[in-house]
Amino acid sequence: MNDSIMLKNICEQPNVVADCLAIELPLSDRVLSAQRIMLLACGSSRHAGLVAQHWFETIAKIPIQVLDAAAWTDRSPLVESNTLIIALSQSGKTKDLLEALTQIKAVTPEIQVLAIVNGSDSPLVHLADSAIVTPAGPEGAVAATKSFSAQLVILARIAVNLAEYKSLISPSIVPVSISKLRTDLKVLPQAIAKSLNNLQRHIGKGVGLDWMVSESIVLLGRGIQQPIALEGALKLKETAYVHAEGFGAGDFCHGPMAILKPGFPIIALMPDQKMRSDLDRFQALGCTVIGIGKRGHECLPGLDQVFELESIADWLMSFLIVLPLQLLAYDWARSRELNVDQPRYLTKFIG
Ligand code: AGP
Repeated sequence: MNDSIMLKNICEQPNVVADCLAIELPLSDRVLSAQRIMLLACGSSRHAGLVAQHWFETIAKIPIQVLDAAAWTDRSPLVESNTLIIALSQSGKTKDLLEALTQIKAVTPEIQVLAIVNGSDSPLVHLADSAIVTPAGPEGAVAATKSFSAQLVILARIAVNLAEYKSLISPSIVPVSISKLRTDLKVLPQAIAKSLNNLQRHIGKGVGLDWMVSESIVLLGRGIQQPIALEGALKLKETAYVHAEGFGAGDFCHGPMAILKPGFPIIALMPDQKMRSDLDRFQALGCTVIGIGKRGHECLPGLDQVFELESIADWLMSFLIVLPLQLLAYDWARSRELNVDQPRYLTKFIG
């Protein structure tokens, strides 16, 4: 039932990811030899950057900062000339990002800017020194879904290419098998397709679940899944207008958990043993805990609702974890008879 553009966009992700794996990446030696990275983006694009931060740090061993482009002009961040700026934007038209880059180029004209964008003829492409155009196709719904996955694939591939480049120069710095990482990436389109098929037996039908009577919800993730908690919360806010907040699972216990009360829904992303003991406490308080993780994972049984995904390499699980969150946002919005493709007050890009 692809009766909305958002649902259609969600279902296109296996093909989009396959297309993003197939394109050439025009990465110059100047880009590959960068000493540090500063990634600038807004909204969902920033969340994709925060996922990729983990890949750049753990796989390519390169220092990276992910910054909110909308806050750039309120600060005076120091940009060294050996820094690679990655400007990440679905539209390539986001004013905050364009302003930040213009300011950086004015102060440090020699800086290298690599744009990753879904629209080839956008102002961002003209501002940047080089650009990678993601082959996601037009994303008609305001909520970013397939463009988010497209950004993730390109960033994962850049991290692997940087690791490969570094390993040729000094093999001891990058102790990972590049060919293993590339093999991991190849299974993504099929794993996304299978996960979507299984999930769509239960969700993505435009029907609300019992706990969707709540006006608030919390999403908990640890490490690389924390930005996915932020992304899921953004999807729920902008499509279903619920007060959704994403937290690092550890940080949630340092105060925010005081908001919990019986019936409060909590979505736990890839819970491990440590998170599971907190979830048991939350269930004892009467909260409804929804778990998302790999099929058969030992920390899922006993939760109030469970969404299971294909089992792929851990470093790529964010591609799958985000899928049920996109579908739940769609369901919650449709159950409230909202226009999922065109939420109130919002436009596709903030110019
Ligand atoms: C995502 O669902 C939102 N519509 C919004 O946060 C968006 O990601 C943000 O405005 C950035 O847009 P861009 O990627 O086109 O720069």
